[in-house]
Order: sequence, then C-alpha cells, then structure tokens
Amino acid sequence: MSTDDALVRAERAGASVPGAAVRPALAEIPNYLRDYYHWAYLSPVGRAVFDHPLIVHGILWGNYLRLMQAALEEVTPGSRVLQTACVYGHLSARLAEHIGSDGHLEVIDIAPIQVRHCQRKLDRFPWAEVRVEDAARLGDRGDYDAIVCFFLLHEVPEDYKSAIVDGILSRVAPGGRAIFVDYHEPLRLHPLRPVMTMVFSLLEPFAKRLWTREIASYASDASAFTHTKETVFGGLYQKVVFQRPE
Ligand SMILES: C[S@@+](CC[C@H](N)C(=O)[O-])C[C@H]1O[C@@H](n2cnc3c(N)ncnc32)[C@H](O)[C@@H]1O
Repeated sequence: MSTDDALVRAERAGASVPGAAVRPALAEIPNYLRDYYHWAYLSPVGRAVFDHPLIVHGILWGNYLRLMQAALEEVTPGSRVLQTACVYGHLSARLAEHIGSDGHLEVIDIAPIQVRHCQRKLDRFPWAEVRVEDAARLGDRGDYDAIVCFFLLHEVPEDYKSAIVDGILSRVAPGGRAIFVDYHEPLRLHPLRPVMTMVFSLLEPFAKRLWTREIASYASDASAFTHTKETVFGGLYQKVVFQRPE
C-alpha cells in the first residue's frame, strides 16, 4: 500500500493528517480521477514531473502566465477567495500574494496528495488554507467574493461539470464573481486543433465537450448573474466570468 493510500485510509478512519487541513469525512476519489488521471495527480512521480511552471507553460502552449493573469485580474485584493482545485505551477501562491493578508484564500482538492503539496506551497501565507473537498459537493462555509476554477471542468465528466458549476454559483456572494478558465474550441484552421484533438482522445476524454458546450449551459439557473466570455490564443482557451449583482 502506498503512503497516500495509507493516509487516505487513516483519514477515513477519522485520524488527522499532519500538515494538511482535512475534513474528518474525506471525499471519495472519483472514478474518473483514478481511471484517467492517476498518472498526473495521484502519483507522486506525476506530481514531481509536472509541478514546474515551465512544464505547465509548455502544456498550455506558452499561455500559462497570460491565463493566470486573466484569472487574477478578476479578483479584488483583500477579498475572500475559493480555488476549486489545486493546480501545478504557482497560481495558488500568486492568488495568495494578490489578495494579501487582508484577504482569505481557501484551496480545495479531492486528492490528499495534492492538498499536502499545495499546503507546502502556501506555508508562507497564513491567510491561506488548503483542505480535501470535492468541488462538486461544496460544504457550507459561507460565500466568497471570488471563486476561481482553473482548468478543472475539462477533466471531469458531464454530471460533475454541472454539479461543479452549480455549486460554485451557489457560493458567490453579492457583488462577487465566479471565474472559469479552461479549454475552448479553437478556430477551424488553428494549427493546434488536430494536436489537441489527439491529446484529448488519448488522455483527456471529457475535455472536448468544452468545444461544443458553453460553460454557462452547465448552470441550472444562472439568471441571478451577468456573465461574459473571452477567448484567447485562436479560441483554444476561454475565460468565463459570472458576476452576481450587489
Ligand atoms: C485543476 S485540475 C488541472 C489543472 C492543470 N492541469 C494544472 O495542474 O495546471 C487538477 C486538479 O483537480 C483535482 N480534482 C479533480 N476532480 C476534482 C473534484 N471533483 N474536486 C476537487 N478537485 C478535483 C485533481 O486532484 C487535481 O489536483
């Protein structure tokens, strides 16, 4: 049994895990994560290989800083922020820096290995906390001024996409925003279109739905929000922002 499996069992049995703020009742690791993304997110080797800004930059075809900046610019310093999954690179640390010590950042992830890793990255920000939680079943810890969902939707099946979008929208405070940054359908003649088609069919079976479905369409009721969508890099990436009026 790996250390992580042992920790998950211990946590399920009610034991606490040093270095991570973990809910007593842990979320189950969903099948899609075990079946399709074990190599990337559940394995220590995957984490060691992928968690470098340059690798993330490469995976996003040089757009990492631009996409991270696009998310950060929607977040007001001093605000209460939820990030709905850990990400490789330094988005969480940048968010913590950006909101400053007057703000509060909560980062959740369903995988304990990612939570512990992110906790280490956020050690120097006492106003940031990380815990195990399923983005599709958010607990009730009040509302947030901003919720950042960065490249999570494309990795989850359709029912999870709907549950994640609905859960996020239900937690946006008056005047607050939900910010989704993710894949989008590129232009017909985009040189990377065939490459991304191949990558998705080999590795990311739930991603291509974002080429044909609007993120807003996953909300069962977005009538309380205004929303905007911007695409970049020939349409390959999108930022969708839902704003709840004051
Ligand atoms: C945000 S996504 C992909 C991010 C992007 N590839 C990167 O790392 O830059 C990866 C994270 O989502 C987490 N995750 C997947 N399903 C989740 C869920 N239902 N709730 C919370 N976290 C989830 C995984 O454990 C993983 O840490």
